[in-house]
Amino acid sequence: MSKRIGILTGGGDAPGLNAVIRAVVKYGVGRLGWEIVGIEDSFNGLLEDAIRIHHLTPASCKGLLQRGGTVLGTTNKGDPFAWVEGGKVVDRTQRLAERVRDLGMEGLIVIGGDGTQAIGHRLMKETGVPVVGVPKTIDNDLRATDQTFGFQSAVDVATEALDRLHTTAEAHDRVLILEVMGRDAGHIALHAGIAGGADVILLPELPYDASRVAAKIRRRQLIKRHFSLIVVAEGAVPAEVAERCESLAERWTWLRAHGGAGAALGHKLPELVQAEIRTVVLGHLQRGGSPVPFDRVLATRFGVKAVELVAEGRWGQMVCYKGGSVTSIHLDEVTGGIRGVDTEGELCQVARRVGVELGQPL
Ligand code: F6P
Repeated sequence: MSKRIGILTGGGDAPGLNAVIRAVVKYGVGRLGWEIVGIEDSFNGLLEDAIRIHHLTPASCKGLLQRGGTVLGTTNKGDPFAWVEGGKVVDRTQRLAERVRDLGMEGLIVIGGDGTQAIGHRLMKETGVPVVGVPKTIDNDLRATDQTFGFQSAVDVATEALDRLHTTAEAHDRVLILEVMGRDAGHIALHAGIAGGADVILLPELPYDASRVAAKIRRRQLIKRHFSLIVVAEGAVPAEVAERCESLAERWTWLRAHGGAGAALGHKLPELVQAEIRTVVLGHLQRGGSPVPFDRVLATRFGVKAVELVAEGRWGQMVCYKGGSVTSIHLDEVTGGIRGVDTEGELCQVARRVGVELGQPL
């Protein structure tokens, strides 16, 4: 008998979301004869007074493999357990569950980061709506999976930005600071920094000593390298700030008050070193545009795996990538908390060994 399955994308977008949707539809509709119903703007398409859904077909998925964003739309403001209506916070999960059932959906494929997966998990536990999760984030910081699609695309954008900054920094003898995404984890900064030949890489996981950054710039000046490239993750803070902040949220408040991680460093450095300094914030450029081939392949693998899980009735699982294979993990085991950069791990060692300053001694 034909199945009807809902699919949605939640949280911040990541290149590859459309490639997952396409794979689910091509396999689910094209090969297995199911109906796949796209729910617009995360859970919101089922939560608002007017339902917003549309049927997805292989024909409607043409051109989606390489397209950035998500054709379903997304939001990080639509928690059914804490739905804001008329200035009040209400629980809309029962409405959501009723609508899933009334629309004849057997279950939902929920594509999203840790927040969206937590909602999907709770929805299944508390209302019985069957859910299969597909993880995404450009930050690549989910514990349950070695890799998320979107990360390589973001690293690609940040690396290209560094390559461009390299030539202009050298031409003008400037220090250029590139702020990249990564509020809690510095994977993008570390990978792009190594790929782009940065002289300094600053991570949220390793609160930095600005005088070490200044010393690195001075050492380069002494060998007639009058320009330097610094990559700073948006969550990186000076060590003295980290010491007095009790939580990541407090650090974030400090960063916002100082115009962001790049601006904070750009203000501090002139006190410590003679150099002309400019700051560039890469921001959402890292999330937009086409996924790189690796992400297209991973997203397609994730989409196919999600359909396999549904076909096998293995609801309550989240697709993941472990040790080079696409597999799955129970949503119970998808613990909150992020997988940060291992600051004593191989990649940080490699960076240090090729002379990159990480803002702290080992
Ligand atoms: O997807 C995670 C992330 O890219 C973070 O690195 C960043 O801080 C955040 O999204 C910003 O998202 P938004 O501007 O959509 O809130």
